[in-house]
Amino acid sequence: MTIEELIRTRRSINSFKSDKPADDLILKAIDQARWAPNHQLTEPWRFYLIGEETKQSIVELNAKLVGEKKGPEAGQKKRKKWSQIPGWLAVTVTKSEDPLRQQEDYAACCCAIQNLALYLWKEGIGIKWTTGDIIRDQEFYDLIWVDPAIESVVGLIWYGYPDESPVSHRKPVEEILVRLP
Ligand SMILES: Cc1cc2nc3c(=O)[nH]c(=O)nc-3n(C[C@H](O)[C@H](O)[C@H](O)COP(=O)(O)O)c2cc1C
Repeated sequence: MTIEELIRTRRSINSFKSDKPADDLILKAIDQARWAPNHQLTEPWRFYLIGEETKQSIVELNAKLVGEKKGPEAGQKKRKKWSQIPGWLAVTVTKSEDPLRQQEDYAACCCAIQNLALYLWKEGIGIKWTTGDIIRDQEFYDLIWVDPAIESVVGLIWYGYPDESPVSHRKPVEEILVRLP
């Protein structure tokens, strides 16, 4: 695929086939991710490759959180859905006391996640970047061994071979472009 095709065809994937992509491919994607632009070369990203045991704990934590908020049936539904997601990765950004640096470091992590997504898409692997309530929960930080005083979670990334072909749309360029004299 050309770069244009990769950018245009990449979609967030919600539904995955059951087989889990090899760690080797994910490591290659992380290797590409870290070449994202980052101001002052802070390299603020950290990647947590989540194994089966941690995944199960996350699934249970999420079922508990959803159950408390929306009732046991909703919790059980999430447990089932999340259990079926094959690949799990968390991406964090290192914290800074300087708000500008924090903003720029977050932006750099977003660029890194897009690099990762495009590399994986080229390999036939889709991701979904999630930022639901769970990524702000202290128990989630504990499960992925992250100290919230030092790093904050940018996203929980699900990955796997797509079992759907979603379509998406964007506004026309003329709607988002301001031409200046
Ligand atoms: C910072 C960020 C957070 C996101 N969080 C969620 C999320 O919590 N749940 C979700 O379903 N999708 C989430 N997404 C994915 C978007 O919903 C998705 O990119 C959007 O619908 C456009 O679809 P596309 O990625 O296929 O082009 C997130 C995307 C970004 C960049």
